[in-house]
Amino acid sequence: MANPVVDAEYRKEIEKARRELRVLISREKCAPLMLRLAWHDAGTYDLRTGTGGPNGSIRNEAELNHAANSGLKTAVDLCESVSAKCPRISHADLFQLAGVVAVEITGGPTVDFIPGRPDSSSSPEEGRLPDATRGAAHLREVFGRMGLSDKDIVALSGGHTLGQAHRERSSFEGKWTEDPLKFDNSYFLNLVAGEKEELLKLPTDKALVADPALRHYVDLYSKDEEAFFRDYAESHKKLSELGFTPP
Ligand code: HEM
Repeated sequence: MANPVVDAEYRKEIEKARRELRVLISREKCAPLMLRLAWHDAGTYDLRTGTGGPNGSIRNEAELNHAANSGLKTAVDLCESVSAKCPRISHADLFQLAGVVAVEITGGPTVDFIPGRPDSSSSPEEGRLPDATRGAAHLREVFGRMGLSDKDIVALSGGHTLGQAHRERSSFEGKWTEDPLKFDNSYFLNLVAGEKEELLKLPTDKALVADPALRHYVDLYSKDEEAFFRDYAESHKKLSELGFTPP
């Protein structure tokens, strides 16, 4: 599909969508789900073939039905109410804007947003998103396929400062932090504190502590929230622009 034409009208609609998303996400308390939507649309990117990425394809029924996307239909449907009011905006832009707004309104850093992502009607094959039961080598393989680094892996995993796992969606259960609607560095503080019975740690979360090169960033972000916010904003922007050349 052609790139949307980012003219003054398009930019006005983006600002309207931003305001609509702030209200919607606050009202529905769905910041975690919206961040997961943005990440799962973008996280299918394959640098080698240029396929997948933040292209709105997660709304295609086949992709929405991938096991990793369980629960995300609710997020796509909520975004449709914004799309109806801002019809020119691509779904690719809308989903990434929802991720940026989710981080912003829960107290996280401001992530720079550049519009113009084209939508794609074709979806990648199932299995491109990370498997939570695996370790550091798997994380490097999956994020490396997107062109992302060790630092990106750890900073972006800090997204688990928001939300929780639901047994019926992923077979995991529980939240990573005491306040799943506040974006801060508590995910990393809990990782270095070790097992806390009431909080969740996926095998892939534990891998960040077990692998020395990844652990370097866990330690940094647990001690220095500003460093986490700075690196997170940079990595989130990269994730949201995989395969996208801003117009
Ligand atoms: C939730 C895995 C990275 C944001 C989840 C869940 C799993 C998971 C299993 C639970 C889903 C459910 O049961 O509802 C992973 C793995 C990752 C990863 C294996 C590899 C590093 C990320 C990244 C972000 C992110 C990079 C965002 C930057 C979230 C959020 C939730 C979540 C916000 C909570 C959703 C909710 O509360 O409904 N993730 N994730 N995750 N993930 Fe990740």
